[in-house]
Amino acid sequence: MSIQISKPFDAHLHLRRGKMAELVTPMSAAQFADVIVMPNLNPPILTVAEANSYRNYLLEIAKCNYHMAVYLTENTSIEEIDAAAKDDNIIGFKLYPLNATTGSQNGISDIKNIYPILKRMEIQKVPLLIHGEVTRPDVDIFDREKVFIEEVLTQIVTDFPKLRITLEHITSADAVEFVMSCSENVVATITAHHLLMNRNAIFTVNEKTALNPHNFCLPVAKTERDRNVLLRAAVSGNSKFFAGSDSAPHPLNCKESSCGCAGCFTGLHAVELYAKAFAELERLGNLEEFLSINGRIHYGISIPSEFINIYDTTFLIPDSIGEEKLTPFMAGQNLNWKVLEE
Ligand code: DOR
Ligand code: ZN
Repeated sequence: MSIQISKPFDAHLHLRRGKMAELVTPMSAAQFADVIVMPNLNPPILTVAEANSYRNYLLEIAKCNYHMAVYLTENTSIEEIDAAAKDDNIIGFKLYPLNATTGSQNGISDIKNIYPILKRMEIQKVPLLIHGEVTRPDVDIFDREKVFIEEVLTQIVTDFPKLRITLEHITSADAVEFVMSCSENVVATITAHHLLMNRNAIFTVNEKTALNPHNFCLPVAKTERDRNVLLRAAVSGNSKFFAGSDSAPHPLNCKESSCGCAGCFTGLHAVELYAKAFAELERLGNLEEFLSINGRIHYGISIPSEFINIYDTTFLIPDSIGEEKLTPFMAGQNLNWKVLEE
């Protein structure tokens, strides 16, 4: 059996620089015709000009339509928003709360500090992409998304009702409910790994109870109930929900470390992982909406004329890849789907 769909769109992807970029960029370009590239590099992508030079760098590595997200800081200027609005290569600005995740040390400490910028983005119709977690030490890490929605996002959507918002990599039933309750300009991406694991996976290795750094990402995976609500939202065909893999490669020594980085690397096989999640609910018929249509409609990206075929054939996920021993999500396990380009 095989299914054919328009070549997918990954609305949230980390491609890094240097050797890592050379390793992972062709993998995503093989599965996706369009990708949104995240700006949390070291140093970060803070301007439209920097985003364009990073885009040219990626184009040298692999052919793909790279749509660039610029890092929003408390020093981002109104002129930068206006420049982004005029530049087709720029998809929007990424809001990282300060210290919420990898590379967020230039993030926002108080949302009120960027209110003039958000107003300009609303007027200019420039999308805001949000990592939705608070970082206060009194908030439980599993409640960070829920509290962000209650304390920050609700305020943003009330004060900027026309602002185009993507709540990235949602992990909770609270997030699904919130996005569904908002107007059509508020949408969400869902990763493959959050559709396939609950928080037990962070504490399971080969069916034994042990710490598994390869399943540690941010926002952290939540409960089985949350996973089921995410899955239902993803397969529903509701145009507010679409794929953003958040594939986040880190070298092995940064994952298996006393200070392990957050991130699941799904770039090798993101489409196949999504197919696995949809197949489990027997909803492969809605995979194309989620992978190729909904996100493009939100961002005004045209549907490509290329297709991919997804076959139900067994594929062993390698233990690690390349010099940096990059460990793919579900390493060493079989996957029952394989993508072949038309
Ligand atoms: O797990 C994550 N890894 N979440 C993020 O928000 C950032 C990402 C990364 O860049 O490694
Ligand atoms: Zn990310």
